[in-house]
Amino acid sequence: MKKTVLVSGGAGYIGSHTAVELIAAGYDVVIADNLSNSDCSGVEGVRRITGVEVPFVEVDCCDKEAFARVFAQYDFDSVIHFAAFKAVGESVADPMKYYRNNLLSFMNVVDLMREYDRHNIVFSSSATVYGEPDELPVTELSPRKPATSAYGNTKQMCEDILRDSVAAYDSLRAIALRYFNPIGAHPSALIGELPRGVPQNLVPYITQTAAGVRECLSVFGDDYPTEDGSCLRDYIDIVDLARAHVAAIDRMTSGDATERYEIFNVGTGRAVSVFELVHTFERVNNLALNHKVAPRRAGDVMAVWADTRRANEVLGWRAERPLDETLRSAWEWEKYVRKL
Ligand code: UD1
Repeated sequence: MKKTVLVSGGAGYIGSHTAVELIAAGYDVVIADNLSNSDCSGVEGVRRITGVEVPFVEVDCCDKEAFARVFAQYDFDSVIHFAAFKAVGESVADPMKYYRNNLLSFMNVVDLMREYDRHNIVFSSSATVYGEPDELPVTELSPRKPATSAYGNTKQMCEDILRDSVAAYDSLRAIALRYFNPIGAHPSALIGELPRGVPQNLVPYITQTAAGVRECLSVFGDDYPTEDGSCLRDYIDIVDLARAHVAAIDRMTSGDATERYEIFNVGTGRAVSVFELVHTFERVNNLALNHKVAPRRAGDVMAVWADTRRANEVLGWRAERPLDETLRSAWEWEKYVRKL
């Protein structure tokens, strides 16, 4: 029997890749998205890759009445909730925009799941909940640090809402996935990350610089106490990350979950510096990237990477795609977008 998954925010970067992997694993998918930070190309890309005319509903999850119609119309038992704002700097400048959107849409999902008797939810959390960790790598039991942005705070608050809701409402099962740094694009180059305006994240900035859209990449800080002086992150391939969601849905729908609320780190377990990432990008794509050292960026942590044992052992998932391939796919995608 096919099972259906509602993917909110499914037109976006992580959502579209997850929709593809769900379909490959035999699930039916319904995409709901208000296209506030994406366009129809994500959904079109999913349809082209899978050959499936995936249903798409343009809806704002904050509009409970409109969102309820999706629950009334489609017979899904699982929801993956991606729909959220994600720009850290913007969230500091306009926190209410983030609290209103990210919390309201999430609370609507939880309410509607109860009202329509739907059971499984996967929530997109983030390594940002760990802040600047005292010990590395971070495990799921590492302390959460006070958030330094409204964006980070909404991730912590949604985790808490989920924990309390699962404790109170017997019908709900939940998995929160704490993503490290998602990068790369689908091997078909038909879907990928489409940042609006100037990219804030490293890899889109790199690919746009390589494409000549940006003049020069600034490496934010070469004076951190790390081997080469730049920050360390755990860069997780987007297809690997998408498959972690499939593993989470498999776990809940098969009844394998031992707790009704579980948390997993989704990373590679490997720390990569900014310079290493830049040089790997140059090597695998056979190009030279214009870059310079700039001052540290406010709010950056020096280093964070995942202990992935729980995801490996309990979820049965592990990162597989080599960094070389991921960075090649990021460049292929940029070339596709720019028609280069
Ligand atoms: C940030 C957020 C994270 C969020 C993610 C995706 C924090 C602490 N982290 O991660 O929660 O999920 O964005 O939106 O708020 N860098 C440069 N030059 C650039 C851009 C980045 O050197 O032009 C460096 C940064 O200093 C950092 C690394 O590249 O060391 C990665 O940065 P970025 O891609 O922005 O991700 P994070 O800041 O790790």
